[in-house]
Amino acid sequence: MDALKSIRTLDQDKIDIVNQLLLPHIIEYVQIETIEQAHDAIKSMKIRGAPAIGSLASLSIASTLSSAVKATPRPDFLASPASLEAYIAPKLEYLFTARPTAVNLGAAMRRLAKVLSQAVTAHQQQSEPRVSDTDAAVAIANDIIAEAKLIGGEDKAQNITMSKLGGDWLHKRVGGSRKYLNVLTVCNTGSLATSGYGTALGFITYLHEQGLLERAYYTQTAPYHQGSRLTSLELHTLSIPSTMICDTMVGSLFQHKSMHAVVVGADRIARNGDTANKIGTYNAAVLAARHKIAFIVVAPTSSVDLSIADGSGIPIEHRPPLEACLVRGALHPPSYDAAGHKVQAQVLITPGAVGETEGGVYNPSFDVTPAELITAIVTEKYVAVKREGEASFELLREAEEA
Ligand code: MRU
Repeated sequence: MDALKSIRTLDQDKIDIVNQLLLPHIIEYVQIETIEQAHDAIKSMKIRGAPAIGSLASLSIASTLSSAVKATPRPDFLASPASLEAYIAPKLEYLFTARPTAVNLGAAMRRLAKVLSQAVTAHQQQSEPRVSDTDAAVAIANDIIAEAKLIGGEDKAQNITMSKLGGDWLHKRVGGSRKYLNVLTVCNTGSLATSGYGTALGFITYLHEQGLLERAYYTQTAPYHQGSRLTSLELHTLSIPSTMICDTMVGSLFQHKSMHAVVVGADRIARNGDTANKIGTYNAAVLAARHKIAFIVVAPTSSVDLSIADGSGIPIEHRPPLEACLVRGALHPPSYDAAGHKVQAQVLITPGAVGETEGGVYNPSFDVTPAELITAIVTEKYVAVKREGEASFELLREAEEA
């Protein structure tokens, strides 16, 4: 069976997303018709995963502009390049504020802003005969649409490339002859988090496709439960042998199973290799180092933020306290509503006051794993390892050499 896609574009202008708050029990598509709805879907985590949120934000811009270009009469903001810029630039800023940690969202919005500002400047500097203001605005809108659609789908091919690069690298590292590898992953990095195949989950899929995987282990990943709700669904859909563990069981797993690697995605990687990823990744890295298990980050080069020297510069999102006090899912034993859907519930697992008391909950959505604990960073262009005796990576050099 094919893995579920987080975003499906029905035609040029219509975007549907799978509401990930309801998975794995209900597959409900939500139509995203406006930029505000895209912002809300990202902020409320109906869609999540670093590449996927960059894709949705970009596609919502494409859809808005595409409808505007086709409308009769056209909206006022298409009267000139300047009015288009005045309308779109704040929307890009606004989408960027939906979630701060993943570099992809900001990078996507900056890419679109660059297309916009360069085209506006080119129009201002053009010599005679001048293109009319309206035609120029429409041409710029079409350029932005093309770039946004590119962003919306370009990571799938990169995911396939990096999964092969990383999978072959690990296979060689363990001696090449070893056939069956056990790996642990954290969070969800598959099709639901990307435009397809996945990063760390792509790596696991590749090992499975090559007949090299014994078993994928994955943490539940509280409090949103990306592992138990989403990674489990994807692994089962792909028929990959897998075992879920609670977040508290990583140390025990490493003590009792022969593990070959921890493989995770990334929301942002600093120049020295320090990596922000889902909360709990750092715990797994510390334990992997203690047990001498390879710790591998798999992410596109667009997740590397060369403007940030180390992890201390990565903004970490803190989610609302109440989210850590609730568990979301279906009733068990199941009961069904009139539409035949399993009834969903959110269960409070703390005294009510905990989520409402100032300082009552600590709920960072991500942590930073220091480069020192990372064995390799795999992108679509390179497998970076540290130089002998060094505690950090040199990702600027890797980028220049790639
Ligand atoms: O809060 P989320 O679910 O958006 O966090 C996602 C992660 O941390 C993923 O591991 C990361 O974005 C990589 S997705 C390919």
